Amino acid sequence: MNLRMRYEKMIELISNISPYIGVEKFMEELIRITVSVMEPIRGGCVFIPSGKDWICSVVYRMDDSMLGLKFNEDEIFIPPGNEPIIFKAVPDLFKKLPDDVVKILERSRFLMETKPLVGVSIRMEESEKPLAVFFFELEENRTMDHFTFESLKAFGKIALSFLIIKIYERKEREHQINMIKAMIRLIELRDPYTKGHGERVGRLATMLARKLKLPEEFITRVYWAGLLHDIGKLGVPEAILNKPGKLTGKEYEIVKKHPVFGEKALEDFENLQDIRLMIRHHHERWDGNGYPDGLKGEEIPLGSRIIAVVDVFDALTSNRPYRKALDVDKAIEMIKREMEGYFDPNIARKFLKMFEELEYPLLHRKSPHHEG
Ligand SMILES: [Fe+2]
Repeated sequence: MNLRMRYEKMIELISNISPYIGVEKFMEELIRITVSVMEPIRGGCVFIPSGKDWICSVVYRMDDSMLGLKFNEDEIFIPPGNEPIIFKAVPDLFKKLPDDVVKILERSRFLMETKPLVGVSIRMEESEKPLAVFFFELEENRTMDHFTFESLKAFGKIALSFLIIKIYERKEREHQINMIKAMIRLIELRDPYTKGHGERVGRLATMLARKLKLPEEFITRVYWAGLLHDIGKLGVPEAILNKPGKLTGKEYEIVKKHPVFGEKALEDFENLQDIRLMIRHHHERWDGNGYPDGLKGEEIPLGSRIIAVVDVFDALTSNRPYRKALDVDKAIEMIKREMEGYFDPNIARKFLKMFEELEYPLLHRKSPHHEG
């Protein structure tokens, strides 16, 4: 392959990888490209730090018995600086390994032959601990030529940019979670009767979604929607929220706006759009007589249908300004009796079954929310 072709191939391959994929997938793609455009390189692997350890997270065209193995800082050779360096695999790479690891490695051509390897540490500053370390295996009788050296340096920079994006993404997520928690605290300050309601609805919705065998990713979303479903109550005057007597028609109309207020509150959170919809529709009814949009049956988002059942259950078993908490068995009876029309029949049945299995009632009875 001549130089131009190699560069063309490199650009084509790099432009096909997306920063939205996970760290491992990205690193594997990068090694794959390295192997296909840099002739002296046969395969590679990546070590990613986890606390004080280093985990072999990706292996491509090298001995994959290494994959998933964990090494501590003294057992692994971390190339200094940011530039690719060449070194002998044994004994430099793993200084003092425990016996069981050595046994695995003895079978590994990669480590036990004293072949040169190329190592590249990916770090922001020279003095900092790397965010990842690449090791590349060379073809027989080949060494790192100038093209390979420069290309690996460039690839190291791509890997660094990618890892920095991932760090910021994580920070942003943490920030968002903290904001959400602050919002929940605000609701609870204004409306002490619902203290813990969001958390319980989130937890119960998670259990129910698991019973429904929904994907883990979706279950996490349902948890967040459960946690936040009543956030729109911040827009309802306190006098109405905490009114001990029956609400007037007008007051009830205001309370009924809270799902829409909640949806509006989350408008600017780009990655909460599915959760917004679950919140907007958590008071819809299966027969179409709910609010705010009167959606019917499966028009109602699945997450909202799950939250609807557990929300009613938790409301019934909690003290409210206008009535005392029902005990769990009475609440279950009531849901059984009235579920027709209200809930997705399949979801309601699963919910009742979950109680027959007695997992939650015990847990729920112990919770302190009855003190209100
Ligand atoms: Fe609600």
